[in-house]
Amino acid sequence: MIMRSDQANFSRYTSGYDGTAKFLHWLVVLLLAAQFVIGWTMPGIHKGTRPDGLIAWHLGVGAALIAAVVVRIVWRLTHRPAPASLSPFLSVVSHVTHGLLYLALLAVPLLGWANASSRGWSVKLLGVLPYPSISGVGSPVGHAMGDIHGYLAWVLFALIALHIAAALFHRFVLKDQTLQRMLP
Ligand code: HEM
Ligand code: HEM
Repeated sequence: MIMRSDQANFSRYTSGYDGTAKFLHWLVVLLLAAQFVIGWTMPGIHKGTRPDGLIAWHLGVGAALIAAVVVRIVWRLTHRPAPASLSPFLSVVSHVTHGLLYLALLAVPLLGWANASSRGWSVKLLGVLPYPSISGVGSPVGHAMGDIHGYLAWVLFALIALHIAAALFHRFVLKDQTLQRMLP
């Protein structure tokens, strides 16, 4: 016989994340997909390059990403998802990977922002709300951060590939409910 509390636990297990957490997860996925495409197709940036065209789009999508990631992390810290029923090994691996994803989701945009500041470019949310400058104009450190930004974008890309492979592994090999936890 299925008790009312078992049913409640089952639905908590199958949809581990609340609607806001799911919305923020998929919003960040969309923004990131655009940001990688723009980052890898925009023209090379040199001294004196103006932040127009695709570069302006990279700064605009980047500003939205920073806001979405911060809101997402604050939401996550204040709203714990129901735990997944994973083996101890997979539980550690998934926590480590998610932790690294969050770290990269903070570090990559911050380094890009610092580089934009060092070039004297303003970063605005939705074209209106200006973010403060976090690196002095012409600062060599801010400049170097642009290079690290490009390398770390690859690290983030590799983590995402691993994460997607894991989601598909759960769905098609382990045939458990993990993928459903992040679906509507
Ligand atoms: C996770 C989000 C982001 C990703 C995946 C990303 C990705 C990239 C990529 C792939 C490049 C080209 C690197 C190269 O070809 O060497 C790039 C360059 C750049 N990005 Fe981002 N970016 C992100 C967020 C941001 C943000 C938030 C800003 C600023 C607000 C920003 C500003 C820049 C700037 C200024 C460059 C040129 C760096 C240079 O060449 O010195 N990016 N980004
Ligand atoms: C841009 C790409 C992505 C990023 C940066 C990303 C990031 C994350 C992070 C940080 C978490 C941990 C959530 C938490 O516990 O706070 C998570 C969970 C999850 N993601 Fe993604 N994700 C991405 C794409 C995807 C895609 C394409 C899928 C599906 C194929 C997916 C499926 C999932 C699932 C199922 C969970 C829940 C895992 C669990 O039950 O603990 N993600 N994602």
